[in-house]
Amino acid sequence: MSAQHARLRVFSGVQPTGKLHLGNYVGALDVWVGGQDQHDNVFCIVDLHALTIPEAVRPDDLRSKVREVAGLYVACGIDPAASAIFVQSRVSAHAELAWILNCVTPLGWLERMTQYKAKSAGTERVGTGLLDYPVLQAADILLYDTNRVPVGEDQRQHMELARDIARRFNHLFGETFVIPDAMIRPSGARLMGLDDPTIKMSKSIGAQRAGHAIGLLDPPDVIQRTIMGAVTDPHRETRFDHAGLGVLNLLVIYEALSGEARPAIEARFEGQGYGYLKRTLAEVVVERLTPIQRRYAEIVSNLGEIDHILEEGAERVRPRAEATMDRVRRLTGLAERPSA
Ligand code: AMP
Ligand code: TRP
Repeated sequence: MSAQHARLRVFSGVQPTGKLHLGNYVGALDVWVGGQDQHDNVFCIVDLHALTIPEAVRPDDLRSKVREVAGLYVACGIDPAASAIFVQSRVSAHAELAWILNCVTPLGWLERMTQYKAKSAGTERVGTGLLDYPVLQAADILLYDTNRVPVGEDQRQHMELARDIARRFNHLFGETFVIPDAMIRPSGARLMGLDDPTIKMSKSIGAQRAGHAIGLLDPPDVIQRTIMGAVTDPHRETRFDHAGLGVLNLLVIYEALSGEARPAIEARFEGQGYGYLKRTLAEVVVERLTPIQRRYAEIVSNLGEIDHILEEGAERVRPRAEATMDRVRRLTGLAERPSA
């Protein structure tokens, strides 16, 4: 086997909605960048998923968000020469395979998804797409014979479902899909809201509430204010095993960005008070995000280049997706391409 084939295929994606935040970076983008050189990478901007809440989408905003997310991928260190970056809706096999997978996915599996329950709760009109969201996600992953899917903790259940759908299809029609594994970092895969450490840092809440999230494009003074204002508990403990939720969140962010080991971190902050922890963390966050923001500003000054990267990425992945679809068509009895 050539070196190229021995590489694990990695696939992941982010929705072009809301404001990308530090949780997206630590839980997802930074992990993608960390493994980029060892893996064969496909990174998607999942605009079809963004349509699952159509009330939240305006067509022109969606298109500009797609470019913003693409620009952030590159600014965070995804190298378009090493990784394919593309927009989901430009490769029609995603929607096509999702339909086929729908037909082998029991409704009960989807009704059990906690993200569906949370997103549909209190909403009068829920589109079928919201329920079907994880089937499209499974299609994204399975189209590319993906081995590893680097995501945050909140995607664990969707990943289990993708594996179940792949196994069920393989059982019904014959070996077709690789069973993918989630790649979830042991610490930092679920950053919590800085204004409320009982809920996860989220793009939609971050867009509504200052102080909730650290946006990847927030200027240094906003980052400082957000971290200095973070909710902490009164008992002044800065050890990972004993800290309250708010302080633990700050320690975990520090750990993820500094790369220091826990004992060193605990020694650094022991007996220093929360003000010192917050000031030090704010410095580390600003230091990490400033070069990303500088690169982002350069990249978005040339939208033609972003569009080119995305189109080239789609062209690179389309033949792989089509090869999977040929297999699926053959095994299911659907009409085959004359040349296939
Ligand atoms: P989303 O914001 O839902 O499009 O998520 C994009 C990626 O970021 C997914 O892999 C999520 O699991 C990950 N992610 C989202 N929120 C967080 C968070 N608070 N902490 C860590 N990872 C997150
Ligand atoms: N559901 C993911 C999220 O909100 C986004 C996503 C869609 C995804 N398709 C994917 C992530 C495939 C990984 C692999 O974070």
